[in-house]
Order: sequence, then C-alpha cells, then structure tokens
Amino acid sequence: MVLVSITLVINGAERSTVVRPAETLLYVVREKLGLTGSKPGCLNGDCGACTVLIDDLPMKSCLMLAIEAVGKNITTIEGLSNTDIQKAFVEHFAFQCGYCTPGFVMNCHSLIQHRPNATDDKVEDWLHSNLCRCTGYEEIKIAVKSVLNRSEG
Ligand code: FES
Ligand code: FES
Repeated sequence: MVLVSITLVINGAERSTVVRPAETLLYVVREKLGLTGSKPGCLNGDCGACTVLIDDLPMKSCLMLAIEAVGKNITTIEGLSNTDIQKAFVEHFAFQCGYCTPGFVMNCHSLIQHRPNATDDKVEDWLHSNLCRCTGYEEIKIAVKSVLNRSEG
C-alpha cells in the first residue's frame, strides 16, 4: 500500500498526517484529523453536506483528494465561529436535524463574502448545490437574505 505524508493548512493551522493517495479530503479531515463537522452524505457530489472552503470558495470535499488540497487554504465549519450567517441560521430556524447545516453554512458564508448584493435569483442558484431533507429551504433563504440585507445596509 502506498502511503504519503502530507501537511494541510486547515483553519489557519498546519496539520500533518499520512494518507493513501486515493483518500478524499472529507475522509481525511474527519477520520484522520478529527474535524467531524463536515458531514458525509451522498459521497458523490450531490448533497453538499461535506462542503468546505478551498481558498475561500466552496468545494465538496467528497470529490477532492486530500493530496490535491496540499498548498491550499482549507476552511471547515470548525474554522467559522460567530459569523453573521451562523447567527442568522439560529435566528430564522434554518435547520431541523442539522445534518446538512455545516455544508449550507459554508456555502452561504462564501456567497455572502463573494456576492454581498446577491439577488434572489443568485441566492437560488447558489443554494442549488446543497440539499436539505427537513426545512424546505424557505428558512434557509430567509436567513441568507437577512445577512445580505445587513451587508447592503
Ligand atoms: S457527501 Fe459530498 S456532496 Fe454529498
Ligand atoms: S436540517 Fe435536516 S437535512 Fe437539513
């Protein structure tokens, strides 16, 4: 079995581990580095529960090899705290079971950073990459828009 030593920059800190070249970033952050906030869902790019930020853009970590993430800045849900979007999810009841929530928060945080004046259509487009079985999306959209409105104000 081929093993590779790698160092990843996650949430601003260097984390070293040994991986097989075929291991996904999702598997490595959860099972080898103990960052279990990123969730395994479909494992084929459909649900978005595993979303992390790579150089500040959303990436489904089930679709990326850990070795591909070397040299990039990785942010997981553990690296976000007290952001406006997290507070908005709580204020607007934008989750129920919460399994999809880390992925939505990462994706929505990136939307707010990159498109602070996003239209309703842009919000719809951006949210297409994540699936939620519980909330029906309305509360999530309300939460996102509340932060966008604050950005504009
Ligand atoms: S687990 Fe990665 S997109 Fe569903
Ligand atoms: S809150 Fe349960 S899957 Fe989204």
